[in-house]
Amino acid sequence: MKRLFGPLLTLLLMAGCRQVESPRTVEDFNFDWRFTLGDDEGYAAAEFDDSSWRQLHLPHDWSIEGVFDRNNPSTEWSGALPGGVGWYRKRFPSPRLDGRVVNVEFDGIFMNGTVYVNGHKVGSRPYGYSSVSYDITPYLNAEGEDNAIAVRCDNSEQPNSRWYAGCGIYRNVRLVATSDLFVEYSGTYITTPEVDDETARVHVVVTVTNKSDSERRVKVVNRIEDADGKKSRKEHRTVAVAAGESLDVEMDMAVASPHLWDVDDPHMYTMHTMLQYRGVTLDEYSTPFGIRTFEFDADRGFSLNGRGMKLKGVCMHHDMGALGTAVHRRALERQLEILRSFGCNAIRTSHNPPAPELLDLCDSMGFLVMDEAFDMWRRAKTQYDYSRYFDAWHERDLVDFVKRDRNHPSIVMWSIGNEILEQWDDLSEEFGDLPIEQQNMLLNFLGRDSSSADDAEVNQNVLMTRHLVSTLKEIDATRPVTAGCNETRPMNNLLRSGALDIVGFNYHEQDYDSVRVWYPGVPFIGSETASALNSRGFYLNPSSELHVMPERWDLPYDTAHHQCSAYDHCRAPWATLHETAWIAVRDRDYAAGTFVWTGFDYLGEPTPYSWPSRSSYFGIVDLCGFPKDCYYMYRSEWTDEPTLHLFPHWNWSEGDKVDVWAYYNTADEVELLVNGRSLGRSAKTPERLHALWEGVRFEPGEITAVAYKDGEEIMRQTRRTAGEAVGLTLTPDRERIAADGYDLSFVTIDAVDADGCFMPTAMNALRITVGGAGELVGVDNGDATSHDSLKGGRIRLFNGKALAIVRSIKGVEGEIVLRVEGDGLQSSAVTVTSI
Ligand code: GAL
Repeated sequence: MKRLFGPLLTLLLMAGCRQVESPRTVEDFNFDWRFTLGDDEGYAAAEFDDSSWRQLHLPHDWSIEGVFDRNNPSTEWSGALPGGVGWYRKRFPSPRLDGRVVNVEFDGIFMNGTVYVNGHKVGSRPYGYSSVSYDITPYLNAEGEDNAIAVRCDNSEQPNSRWYAGCGIYRNVRLVATSDLFVEYSGTYITTPEVDDETARVHVVVTVTNKSDSERRVKVVNRIEDADGKKSRKEHRTVAVAAGESLDVEMDMAVASPHLWDVDDPHMYTMHTMLQYRGVTLDEYSTPFGIRTFEFDADRGFSLNGRGMKLKGVCMHHDMGALGTAVHRRALERQLEILRSFGCNAIRTSHNPPAPELLDLCDSMGFLVMDEAFDMWRRAKTQYDYSRYFDAWHERDLVDFVKRDRNHPSIVMWSIGNEILEQWDDLSEEFGDLPIEQQNMLLNFLGRDSSSADDAEVNQNVLMTRHLVSTLKEIDATRPVTAGCNETRPMNNLLRSGALDIVGFNYHEQDYDSVRVWYPGVPFIGSETASALNSRGFYLNPSSELHVMPERWDLPYDTAHHQCSAYDHCRAPWATLHETAWIAVRDRDYAAGTFVWTGFDYLGEPTPYSWPSRSSYFGIVDLCGFPKDCYYMYRSEWTDEPTLHLFPHWNWSEGDKVDVWAYYNTADEVELLVNGRSLGRSAKTPERLHALWEGVRFEPGEITAVAYKDGEEIMRQTRRTAGEAVGLTLTPDRERIAADGYDLSFVTIDAVDADGCFMPTAMNALRITVGGAGELVGVDNGDATSHDSLKGGRIRLFNGKALAIVRSIKGVEGEIVLRVEGDGLQSSAVTVTSI
């Protein structure tokens, strides 16, 4: 005791007898909010009585709880769910203040989030994808006293998005308290300018803010720790930070024998930063980072740590199906697990800044990222979209976005926009009479004539491109900048600005090679590809018939079934089938990679249909995360995992002629057996990535695919004609989850016949209930035309399958029992343990 007392006393003396302050505290601020739909100025007031409002915890998306209705102003193009104005309120005690600074951090509020503390407005942000941090110290009551925070979200003016965006405080919230000398929000920047086998130079910039009223001499201490806990030597610098100012403090450090971050081995380091003042630690801040090198080369494409590879990527919107856009880390992790299982190694965050958790997961799971800022600049794509705020806000949004994300090793390029209409000049003159949605479609479809180009002319759009790129590069110059362009010809203002480091081109692979002509020496990536259309488990024969849906972008399209056949033979008019799109990138060494539109289906944009459809058909997997057949094309081409996938199902009418396909790898050829009789062997070719047997006459029984390597059977798969569905199997993806109020189990519901065989055409209505230590937070079936609530307990099977999502309750351990009853089906139950 005596021994301890000496140093402690010295510390207190060194601190000028000031009380030793505890470093930063970060509080999960998601629990115990109240919510109401509707609007009233009085809701901001400290004393407003919100006791009748609904209690909930964040992240929360109120839209997804609504009813699908074509009269909702969002229209089916952004999900046909309600918008409006909603308010959130929470009461909380003031933390210890005495010179401390309290910030509230919102990762995203959709949209127009305005924050009030004790009735004072502390800030407002239109762009729903921007993360913000507000200093609320001046508005707080004395330590221990009660405060009210109120947040108004205004998503009433719709349509404002070309996809489902959700409504509310849909991302995480934290309350962060620090001393008055602290590392700024997004306040570190770590780069690795020199990397070789022996050593990596690590450059760190720490932004130190001094909110006290006197200059402070602060010692900035940095130490690097690897994933195994091995720590580097501490390095430090002492600087004076003036009162009320921020200062960037730079340091170089070294890591010996660096363990590189790679897609197969995503090794992370952590930079631990400490701010010390008179020997007392006033702040501690950790920044995960990685050490890797990469290159985009105009001839050889992409390489990571010197190893050539293609980005096998997908575009992803930010909804999580039945969970809406309310961020659930586990839902994002599951998405990435499913994507990885077919060999995907890259994500394009189309077309907006993602949830920070997605980037953390990409870091830790080894995904490469194209991090994208905008879907539009000044020119609108929908009536009330971000173009209205662009002039006032784009710099702030872009800078904050790059500052927030620039330490993630997963990010290998920035995108300043998707299919930005400023690519062209005189759009309004040409298309002035058309609705803006149609103008966009037209540009996508037509391409432009280069004769209108005047290379010498530097117009506003060229200048805007340069301005955005230079603004971005002031914040991070270590990554190339691209954009998803519709047009490669030199009249394209974005490309002819000369500011883009990579030509990002969406679709039209017949024009890929023109990039080499127009932009010699500039790397190239298929920033958006495919846009093929498939419904899981739905087939139209013959498969040789190409379905361009619609035939031309401006023609109406409709069918009675409102589905898209799952053979790879359906696409949008501007688009390409999956196999063709992949081959175009596979066969071009200079193509750095592809971003397939899309990995998962998403709410909104039900191309080629309109209502009653309300979600997309583009996904490689459906809205539930269930694979469509094309999933196996990617798995067979993008991975070495032994794959054999035979389709379609074998439940047809007697005499039907059915085309049978098989995706496979590791084998030379595949034989098809129908009830034991061989229909011969078939092999894929460089241009056709599946085995094929056309016009197979259906007879009940079974079909089997047998894969051969060097003449030996290596794998087989059988599809049986199932009888009527009589029961259900329930398969949770995880049987134990954490009792933290966040963790999820995704339960797959499959229809089975009396022999336990999967019934692929079952559409029975289900009733789903959850009891015990959890709650039902979503149900879905992947049917883009279903209008059942994704939050209720009633849904139909769609082609034999449905999904139920259960969540734990914070602090409640025990068994969660999920029960499913179905019309004409024996009911089933499954238990998940929450611990
Ligand atoms: C692209 C656009 C995407 C999506 C897609 C559908 O042109 O960038 O956001 O709309 O078309 O095919």
